[in-house]
Amino acid sequence: MSFGENDQQKAEMKQTQPVVEGGDKEEKKEIASYWGVPPSRVTKEDGAEWKWNCFRPWETYYADLSIDLKKHHVPATFLDKMAYWTVKALRLPTDLFFQRRYGCRAMMLETVAAVPGMVGGMLLHCKSLRRFEHSGGWIKTLLDEAENERMHLMTFMEVAKPRWYERALVITVQGVFLNAYFLGYIISPKFAHRMVGYLEEEAIHSYTEFLKELDKGNIENVPAPAIAVDYWRLPPNATLRDVVMVVRADEAHHRDVNHFASDIHYQGRELKEAPAPIGYH
Ligand SMILES: [Fe+2]
Ligand SMILES: [Fe+2]
Repeated sequence: MSFGENDQQKAEMKQTQPVVEGGDKEEKKEIASYWGVPPSRVTKEDGAEWKWNCFRPWETYYADLSIDLKKHHVPATFLDKMAYWTVKALRLPTDLFFQRRYGCRAMMLETVAAVPGMVGGMLLHCKSLRRFEHSGGWIKTLLDEAENERMHLMTFMEVAKPRWYERALVITVQGVFLNAYFLGYIISPKFAHRMVGYLEEEAIHSYTEFLKELDKGNIENVPAPAIAVDYWRLPPNATLRDVVMVVRADEAHHRDVNHFASDIHYQGRELKEAPAPIGYH
């Protein structure tokens, strides 16, 4: 991939001056930087301006649509069963609350799904610092998972707008879930990763239902949000259906990563002993 970037000098010159771009005489004032941090100028392969600051062209990817969506970890131990039934129990109120509003459901669930990777990644980060040891790539893998889930949210919020009580619910749920997962991960990372594995299995199911509703015409297959087209390198005429397909593939990848992490713990090993699956995203 080759992505153009204007040279440093040019950027520095523009730091403190209003920039006039194009022939529309529109003045764009840039934030002056005393600290030598020039605004980055990134373009797409076709020369068009890259409009996202939250991710860059080299962070975009093609989702692996060939991933096995049916894989399931059969709960074997008591902990597995507890993880499995915790997730099943959480699904009940979710089903009741959202019914068939899958767009809204996806958006709300992504606010939760983006938490475990960040908590696990942070705890492994601190552990690496405390013990003066490598992480085997697991910090990056888990933080990448969190970022990927957050991008799912940034995508779905383009097609579903949260109502005030849904925003309030997210704040409450985050307060409870983040702390519970933090404690859970400290007590048993084996259980925490297994639970996320099962959450991801449920996410695959939800997105499959979402696709069915789209195919039946119950949900309008609107054009894909621009952010999704760039993030997953979708064709310009991509639709919401294409977005759900790539998001579902991401969830299957998270499922495999988390069940794998739990399996490593089950074998009495630490995550750092098995190389993390870095580089999917
Ligand atoms: Fe997600
Ligand atoms: Fe996920």
